[in-house]
Amino acid sequence: MLAPQGNPKCLVALFGLLAILTNFQDSYSNSYANTAYNGFRNFFNDSYIERGSPHGLSKWSFTFLWSFFLNIWTFGFLAGTFITPYLTDNYGRKMALILSAMVSLLGTSLSVIAVLVKSPEFLLVARTIASSSSGVSFNTLVVFIQEAVPTNVRGTCSFLIETSFLFINVFGFAFGLDVILGHYIDLLIGVGLIPGILALLIMFPLKETPKFLLIHKNDNKAALEALIFYQGERSNPKKQLETMLLEAKEDKIDIPLKKALIKVIKVGHLRKALLLGILSIQLIIPVWTMLYLSSLLLEAHFSAKVSQYTSFAYIVLECSAGIVGASIVENFGRKRMLLTSAVVNTLAIVAYIAFDRLAFYYGGWFKYGCIGSLFSYGITYGAALGPISVFISTELTPQKYRSIIQSTVLAVNTIMQFIITFSVLPLYNLLDIWAFIPLFVIPAIFCISYIAHAMPETKGREIYEIVAELRGNDSSTTLSTLSSEAISEQEEDKKDIADLKL
Ligand SMILES: *[C@@H]1O[C@H](CO)[C@@H](O)[C@H](O)[C@H]1NC(C)=O
Repeated sequence: MLAPQGNPKCLVALFGLLAILTNFQDSYSNSYANTAYNGFRNFFNDSYIERGSPHGLSKWSFTFLWSFFLNIWTFGFLAGTFITPYLTDNYGRKMALILSAMVSLLGTSLSVIAVLVKSPEFLLVARTIASSSSGVSFNTLVVFIQEAVPTNVRGTCSFLIETSFLFINVFGFAFGLDVILGHYIDLLIGVGLIPGILALLIMFPLKETPKFLLIHKNDNKAALEALIFYQGERSNPKKQLETMLLEAKEDKIDIPLKKALIKVIKVGHLRKALLLGILSIQLIIPVWTMLYLSSLLLEAHFSAKVSQYTSFAYIVLECSAGIVGASIVENFGRKRMLLTSAVVNTLAIVAYIAFDRLAFYYGGWFKYGCIGSLFSYGITYGAALGPISVFISTELTPQKYRSIIQSTVLAVNTIMQFIITFSVLPLYNLLDIWAFIPLFVIPAIFCISYIAHAMPETKGREIYEIVAELRGNDSSTTLSTLSSEAISEQEEDKKDIADLKL
């Protein structure tokens, strides 16, 4: 019944649903905390009062506890990311998805219990468990889609991963509102059990990916069946399996990880691609603060209710902009779109700081400027900055180094995100909104300048042309580096391109 057999509509429907159910935990758990902030604060505070500290938590203890609660997610997610290759290669992609869905259910159930027994510490542990399951499920889903879906709908399906995330954010913000479940955080968290169970139900009837069956299981027959299950008879499945085997052989003679990493750092154009990847994704780090704290920030000038509704409007705008952005992204140059959205996005943060301070000193209508700035931030992020910055590094690198550069970018980004997002609340307590200048504005100016200077246009160009430009612009290129190594490398790159076209 679930077999899409190459029908694009069925494939998109199946993987769209799978993406929503698989990403639910990650997206929901990171969005309800925004609007339900007061509910959580009362829970933390009451738990400590009941335990016998009559004054509850001080402002500072709560600030650190809350920052820790929010950001521990990054840590668990990273741990999940690290164990994903082990799980997917040994137990299969499907088993990894099922396993992560079960751990996700466990994490949600334990979180509900933690709230019921009023144990903040236990809640932190449960949240870490849930986040590690998200790390596994997100990364496995990416591999699953790459391996099971035919090329013509792969782009759409990958896009669904990003959009499903924004889409569930809207639900998370909505459920966290005071008028819905904002003051019943056990129920608020417990809602996640429903998609968790549905996720398991949809995963069991799925077939393992053809590539895993062929390469890790050496089971041609099952691989053929799986290929037909996903792509149908017309996809010339036998030939596809042959290509897959060939590619796998070439993968095997790949250079070891450490050597590859050293090479990326040593070779000018690879280093440049890596740096561009790191800096463009650095630009989206403030979005975590908006996601986690927009209601709290707005409460400096508005009632809890207005702050929550404004945050909800913000996430709806961001999600809608994401859908519009995806449909226009192919019409403009990547570099121009990335830079324009990054500049406007950063100006929106600057405007927020300005209006926040003006509202603080002069009151009056200035506070509405904060709302306008937040909305501008969401629109530019959703429409262009978010999606482009995430995939830009893959467009700058030759196939062979793509995954190592991509993983390095992701690892650096996770660490930066943890450090910066964790510091926001304590620094906000200390310096007020001025904290945004060192945390967000100065890094953004630096990133934008470097990208404007070093990034080649990527849209509509072949990777080897882009790599050639990165190489050409490279000031460290001397005659000697054009020696045999560089030439053999160009050869390799060409071969990579040939592989890509297969
Ligand atoms: C916790 O509750 C106490 C007593 O109601 C209150 O004085 C304190 O400000 C609260 N702390 C926080 C962080 O809300």
